[in-house]
Amino acid sequence: MMADIDDLPVNPDLSDETFDGEYTIVIEGLVNRFGDFAVHENLDLKVKRGEILGVVGGSGTGKSVLMRSIIGLQIPDEGTIEVLGKDIRAKEDDDEIGLRNRWGVLFQGGALFSTLTVGENVQVPLKQFYPELSQQLLDEIAGYKTVLSGLPAETASKYPSELSGGMKKRAGLARALALDPELLFLDEPTAGLDPIGAAKFDELLRELADTLELTVFLITHDLDTLHAICDRVAVLADKQVIAVGPIEELMESDHPWIQEYFNGPRGRVAHAGSQRPKGAGASAKTTGPAKAIDKPAAGGA
Ligand SMILES: Nc1ncnc2c1ncn2[C@@H]1O[C@H](COP(=O)(O)OP(=O)(O)OP(=O)(O)O)[C@@H](O)[C@H]1O
Ligand SMILES: [Mg+2]
Repeated sequence: MMADIDDLPVNPDLSDETFDGEYTIVIEGLVNRFGDFAVHENLDLKVKRGEILGVVGGSGTGKSVLMRSIIGLQIPDEGTIEVLGKDIRAKEDDDEIGLRNRWGVLFQGGALFSTLTVGENVQVPLKQFYPELSQQLLDEIAGYKTVLSGLPAETASKYPSELSGGMKKRAGLARALALDPELLFLDEPTAGLDPIGAAKFDELLRELADTLELTVFLITHDLDTLHAICDRVAVLADKQVIAVGPIEELMESDHPWIQEYFNGPRGRVAHAGSQRPKGAGASAKTTGPAKAIDKPAAGGA
């Protein structure tokens, strides 16, 4: 049964008192189980409007399941999830439809429909939500999104099998942007790309997020990405979000997994190469003096 948000225990360490903007996603007390196996237990997370939030965690810690929960594909066993001010479980009315055309998703693996061209792939969500659009307009929008995603215009008429890995990711991004979303979910978008391709994708993402004022939920293993474009990073471990904050602050955490991940050899190299400013999405950032990591209390499991 779903508890009223006001009835749920508030984790004091999650409230960021220096932040007075809006939260685009608010997750409280999330529990996800598969049989007897709990992936998430009492997980809390808030995503600020306009930020790029990096989500990290070991393989199998439940990053993809978390994303699926937020977009309503995985029904949680307990807890509440609010997206853009609406309860994601309010399935019975039209709210869900009202939400689904306000976000774009690039799933892990980024599967495009192989029998459709890139342009037709981008048109899939458009047709779903706006069946009245003329073919000419669909083609125009698909072409625009293709170019917006950094692909040559003629890519719209190509099939996925004709594209490189990096181009496929961009085509997936174009499809995720089809509906002019406010919110973008990306699950490992740069996995499998060479470092230069990955860096270019990161740059594009940062630029799009800033110009289109997107909030981005970005699951990644890529330490360079975390340093280069993420405003904050959330760490999944022990079935919860154990810490969330700017990466520089996370690196000071004494949690062993965080230490090993961010301050291990690969982490240090990524940090050394990251001395560049992040995006201009300043409105979403914490204002005032930097707060220590928003670290949930040691409760739970
Ligand atoms: N539909 C499902 N049925 C049963 N178990 C599942 C299902 N989906 C996910 N799981 C399990 O939940 C756990 C978390 O899976 P998830 O895919 O979220 O991991 P992840 O953090 O995204 O890992 P990776 O970094 O490898 O992508 C795993 O143990 C997985 O086996
Ligand atoms: Mg995953």
